[in-house]
Amino acid sequence: MAEINILVVHGPNLNLLGRREPNIYGSLTLDQLNKMVEERSGALGIKVEIFQSNHEGEMVERIQQAPGRFDGILINPAAFTHYSYAIRDAIAAVGLPFIEVHLSNIYSRESFRHKSVFSALAEGVICGLGPEGYLLGLEALANIINRRED
Ligand code: DQA
Repeated sequence: MAEINILVVHGPNLNLLGRREPNIYGSLTLDQLNKMVEERSGALGIKVEIFQSNHEGEMVERIQQAPGRFDGILINPAAFTHYSYAIRDAIAAVGLPFIEVHLSNIYSRESFRHKSVFSALAEGVICGLGPEGYLLGLEALANIINRRED
């Protein structure tokens, strides 16, 4: 079985995790979340590269560079979820399977968060489960990729 490589993308303001609205996003920092993702990927026997950016263009470029290096993408597009056609088009263009994840339950929050320009293209969407959502998303994505390789 070939090794699975997954690109994990965190969008804007997720660098502030732990300090940012902890009542909504929890007290875990991004470093702690990334550590959990790395530990789970080790346990699953897959490789991850983790990237956070506050810039739309940087996210587009990293996604454009993913084919050939990565088999799938786990992405929390953060606020870009709701309006970035540029990142949505990049992920459509590369054609890699991806899972959309959100820490908070976007459907129990403001109405502008109820729409995602990514969800229709995603293999699946996880929201409201906090950091656990990333771990579940990672495992689900690895399973999807493994099934395709069979
Ligand atoms: C978020 C939800 C978005 O609406 C918000 O803009 C974020 C984080 C989440 O993980 O719950 O920055 O994607």
